[in-house]
Amino acid sequence: MRFVSEIGSEFHAERIGVIRNSFFLSYGELVFSGRTAIETVLKEAPYAKKALLPSYCCESMIIPFRKAGIEVDFYDVWYKNGMQFSIGISADTDILLWCNYFGFNNAMPDCSSFIERGGIIIEDITHSLLSAHQFHNQSHYHVASIRKWEPINCGGYCASAKGKLYHIPNNAPADDFLKIKQDAMKLKAEYLCDHDELKKPKFLRMFGESNSWLAENYSGLSIDQWSREYLSKVDIQRQREIRCSNAHILYNGLKDTVQFMFKEEEMDCPLFVPILLPEKRGDVRAGLAANGVYCPIHWPKPQVCESNLYDMELSLICDQRYKEEDMERIVTVLNDLL
Ligand SMILES: Cc1ncc(COP(=O)(O)O)c(C=O)c1O
Repeated sequence: MRFVSEIGSEFHAERIGVIRNSFFLSYGELVFSGRTAIETVLKEAPYAKKALLPSYCCESMIIPFRKAGIEVDFYDVWYKNGMQFSIGISADTDILLWCNYFGFNNAMPDCSSFIERGGIIIEDITHSLLSAHQFHNQSHYHVASIRKWEPINCGGYCASAKGKLYHIPNNAPADDFLKIKQDAMKLKAEYLCDHDELKKPKFLRMFGESNSWLAENYSGLSIDQWSREYLSKVDIQRQREIRCSNAHILYNGLKDTVQFMFKEEEMDCPLFVPILLPEKRGDVRAGLAANGVYCPIHWPKPQVCESNLYDMELSLICDQRYKEEDMERIVTVLNDLL
C-alpha cells in the first residue's frame, strides 16, 4: 500500500524487517532524547561554568545547559552566500557547542588553542547522524536526537570520542508516554491508508501530548526497549540512498526557481533539503500545507538568539518514507507557488 495523502510531519508506525548494518548500537550510548544526550555529556564536565553555542540553534539545545547551571553565550551564525560563522572564544569559556546543519558539509574551524587550554567541544550530530562524515576530529563529545530520523517512541545518542561516559541515565520512560506515542504513530499509519479525517485531530493531539511529556520529563531517562530494538534493525545504507536520491530530485526540479541553502555537492546524507525564502516563506509554507506537504522550519527562534536564517529557512522533506513520485509532487507544488 502506498501512502500518498500527505507528505511530512511526524513519522507513522512502520514495520521493520531484518537486522542490517545499523551503527546505532556499535558505538556510544542510546538515551531518551537529544536533550538527555546533552545533559549526559555535561555531567562529564561538572566544573563547566560557561558555554558558547551557535546563534542558529533551537531552544531545546539551550535548555540542558541552563538546567546544569551553565551560563550560555552565542557565536554568530548567519547566511550570506553560504553559511557564515564568527567564533570568538572568551578566556572564561569552558565548552564550545558545534552544530552540523542538515547533513551537508560544513567544516568546523580549527579549535586547537581552545583545546590546549582545556576547552571541551561538544558536537551536535543530530543532522549528520547518517552522514559518512558524521563528526569532526577535534570534538570531544557527540550528541544527537535520533527521533528526528526514525519512527521510534524516543531516542537520543551520546558518545565520548576518546573514552567512556560515566553518567549514563538508566530510568525507563513512563509507560503512559510510550503508549501514547505508539498509538499516535499507529493511528497516523491507519489514517494514511483509510483517509478517515476523524483520525487526524486525534493523532495530532496524541503527538502533541507525547512531545509535551518529553519536554517536561527528558532528564535522567534511558531509551525504551522497543525503540532500542527498532534502531538495531534499521537499514542505514538504504535510508542514506533514498534520502540522497530524493534530495537530488528536489535539486534538479527546483534549480531554476529556488535558492538552496547548500550547494548540491555539499550534500552528505540530508535530514531535510533546506531552502531560503527571504520574502514569502509563510505563504509558501501554507501553500504547500494546503497541498498536503508539511515542511518544518528550523527553527522557531529562541528569544536570546539572532540569525537571519530563522526568518527565511524552509526544510523540504526527503526522507525514507517517500519515493520519486512524492518528490515530483513537492517540485510541482512548489514551482506553482513561486
Ligand atoms: C540539532 C538538535 N539538537 C538537539 C535537539 C534536542 O533533541 P530532542 O528534541 O530529542 O530532545 C534538537 C531538537 O530539535 C535539535 O534540533
